Amino acid sequence: MTKIRSRPPIDRFGMRTPSQEAPATPGSSNVRPVEGWVPIRDLHARHRRRILAHLMDLDERDRYLRFGYKATTEQIQQYVASIDFKRDEVFGIFNSKLHLVAVAHLAAMPGKGPAGDGSSRGRAMEFGVSVLEAGRGKGLGLRLFVHAIMHARNQHASHMMIHALSENGPMLRIAAKAGAVIERDGPDAEAWLKLPPDTVGTHIDSSLQSIAAEALYRIRYNAMHASDWLKMLVNPI
Ligand SMILES: CC(C)(COP(=O)(O)OP(=O)(O)OC[C@H]1O[C@@H](n2cnc3c(N)ncnc32)[C@H](O)[C@@H]1OP(=O)(O)O)[C@@H](O)C(=O)NCCC(=O)NCCS
Repeated sequence: MTKIRSRPPIDRFGMRTPSQEAPATPGSSNVRPVEGWVPIRDLHARHRRRILAHLMDLDERDRYLRFGYKATTEQIQQYVASIDFKRDEVFGIFNSKLHLVAVAHLAAMPGKGPAGDGSSRGRAMEFGVSVLEAGRGKGLGLRLFVHAIMHARNQHASHMMIHALSENGPMLRIAAKAGAVIERDGPDAEAWLKLPPDTVGTHIDSSLQSIAAEALYRIRYNAMHASDWLKMLVNPI
């Protein structure tokens, strides 16, 4: 079992921006990370169809990496149908055409602590994520991870856990960058990140980010539809 030790400490919100990170490892992407703030929208039960469409856009290999097995369409449908939006949190990043390019699921693991037993050293939440091929290497996966850390803290989780395949370099790199301890067991790996407690700041930041992301989505949506109406008025046939 390999232990990858912590990097420099995370900030008071439990996060560091991609620009603060150490230089990329050899072989890493040359794509420039998305600069500035990235709107991360809260997704709800009404978004199930869009979450499903996003996951169906993943190819076979990505589905394997996301779920740890070659998930069939039926299994993905079952997974999406089973998401408990009251207990868990789901976040999405939309591109300028309002296409859902990245989805993260922060799932409560009741009673399960970092030792993996029922006794629990605290409450843990599991993080799962997918970014469509075209959006990769721009720091979206890391942003969602950082966002999830804040939400997990606000839910009073003591740890965040990521279950990934040992071969999943990008996911394990994201977890390691945030300071997670990674335990490899053959083809499987578990990354455990100890979380600092929530603060007034994490709650305010989370609320402001949600409001801003929702507002920006609405503005883009209205702008898109306004231009449709204009086209219809100018060219009615
Ligand atoms: C894992 C995944 C979400 C990463 O998304 P992303 O937006 O490309 O991630 P980021 O751009 O934030 O960062 C990826 C990091 O991995 C690094 N990386 C890329 N390929 C790598 C590899 N083969 N080995 C190690 N690190 C690698 C990148 O360089 C980057 O690190 P850096 O910022 O230090 O350069 C995306 O690849 C994906 O959706 N994969 C399929 C589903 C999946 O594996 N989900 C995770 C299991 S829950």
